[in-house]
Amino acid sequence: MPRSLDAFHDSDRVLRLAAETFFDHLSEMCEGILVVDKSARIVWVNDRWQRNIASLGFSNADEIIGRPVEEVVPNTLMRHVVETGKPILLDILENKAGTYLVSRFPLHDESGQVIGAVGLILYDQIETLKPLFGKMGRLQSELAQAQKELARQRRTRYTFSNFVGNSERALEVKSRARRAAVLNTTVLLLGETGTGKELVAQAIHAASTRARHPFIAVNVAAIPETLLEAEFFGVAPGAYTGADRRGRDGKFKLADGGTLFLDEIGDMPLALQAKLLRALQEREVEPLGSNAVSRVDARVIAASSVDLATLVADGRFRSDLYYRLNVLPIRLPSLRERPEDLEALCEHLLEQIALEHEMLPKEIDREALEALAAMPWPGNVRELRNVLERACSLWDGMRLTIEALREVVPEIDAVAVRQETAVLRGSPGAGVEGRPVGSRAIDAPAVPPADPSAIGETHDGAATLPERIAALERAAIREALRATGGNRVQAARRLGIARATLYQKLAEFPELAEGAPGRAA
Ligand SMILES: Nc1ncnc2c1ncn2[C@@H]1O[C@H](COP(=O)(O)OP(=O)(O)OP(=O)(O)O)[C@@H](O)[C@H]1O
Ligand SMILES: [Mg+2]
Repeated sequence: MPRSLDAFHDSDRVLRLAAETFFDHLSEMCEGILVVDKSARIVWVNDRWQRNIASLGFSNADEIIGRPVEEVVPNTLMRHVVETGKPILLDILENKAGTYLVSRFPLHDESGQVIGAVGLILYDQIETLKPLFGKMGRLQSELAQAQKELARQRRTRYTFSNFVGNSERALEVKSRARRAAVLNTTVLLLGETGTGKELVAQAIHAASTRARHPFIAVNVAAIPETLLEAEFFGVAPGAYTGADRRGRDGKFKLADGGTLFLDEIGDMPLALQAKLLRALQEREVEPLGSNAVSRVDARVIAASSVDLATLVADGRFRSDLYYRLNVLPIRLPSLRERPEDLEALCEHLLEQIALEHEMLPKEIDREALEALAAMPWPGNVRELRNVLERACSLWDGMRLTIEALREVVPEIDAVAVRQETAVLRGSPGAGVEGRPVGSRAIDAPAVPPADPSAIGETHDGAATLPERIAALERAAIREALRATGGNRVQAARRLGIARATLYQKLAEFPELAEGAPGRAA
């Protein structure tokens, strides 16, 4: 047998040879080697390493042998390696001599005791890579910033304590929602616009075991139909060419472990309803352009401001999906249905407004409160908040009077007068406590007639027809925006026009757009 093969029968020898060869190659390849003993004193450096001696402030190798390693090499972690016995495979060492890519290994004796450590300079031209590191650092901090912002957006702002109201109906909502929070089932929130559906959805999430996971809200009405599927279920890599090539997670996936809030579920196209039903039943989603499904665990809370049962009857909403969602329905009362909560709500909202605008909270007097209680509030709490906010900004006094409100809601007198005459006539269904309630399911109630001057009538009735039409349009849009608290999606729906048409009209009548905080769609 030739000697070279013979060597493989002596495993100790093979290992020794391997170690020697490895070391030879390594010392060839790397830019310097340094060895320390178990008290982290330098015992040996190779020739290449000695090139650094001058920049470290020494004149020759003899001067550094025997010294504690950090006296020679500032910022080194060799002592740490000796003390822990753990290698540091890759690290960047920076000191007065330069910036190095280094690697550090403990040295063991035959019994496994750490007797020292070897440090390797793998690369010493890191300076040339500095611009790259700088860029990477900047990208990294930008990423961290974006992640922080996302996490903030995915945390909920509301808990049950934010749902103000002690009326029987408000308490019923809270108790049902609390029950929903511990049950982990699908929840359906029904209620007019501005009644607090999103607030309750967030509160349920915050009180559930999913609270530490994301809360992802999707407004179905605000997303163009063609984009909905990708938005919900994601896109597989390569499904599209161009910017979206890499694929993208859908909202279902993003809500994994947490809660997916599907707002205005009634606006979901029928084809997508089928896919949603499957996702709810199978707990699986199939990204666009993929034929693989992935499991997701998201609790769905759906909300609707239109009566879903009617949509089912009209064939616009799948009945099977409706039953699947309707496991635990919670109906949020309109403001008209709980006038006894108005005072507490005003107080709460005035405090909130004050906090946001960094001013002292204003109060509201009894007469003004009664006038507010007589209003129909089609936009519910959101509308109330808007009215109070505008009154606070326009009124200098610390106490909001009926005068202050008149500035913001000119029709307040008309409502109050109607109220009084109704009360005087003893008409049922009128009066602060006796307003008609819940008569139209969750449909928005009729809006009070617009002020005739708003529809372009001059004293002598001389306005042209186009002028009158434009004035009528303006009045209707203003009213719809006010009623929906500036929510353009819902204002368009109230007006029975497409969202795009509303945006076009707002561009034509910029004075309306200013008062309408468009909701991010
Ligand atoms: N019971 C309540 N207590 C305190 N604030 C409330 C209450 N209900 C609603 N709000 C406030 O009213 C505003 C509208 O609430 P939210 O967005 O939850 O309504 P919504 O039912 O989701 O409306 P939309 O159908 O228009 O989306 C928010 O500012 C919310 O904080
Ligand atoms: Mg909402």
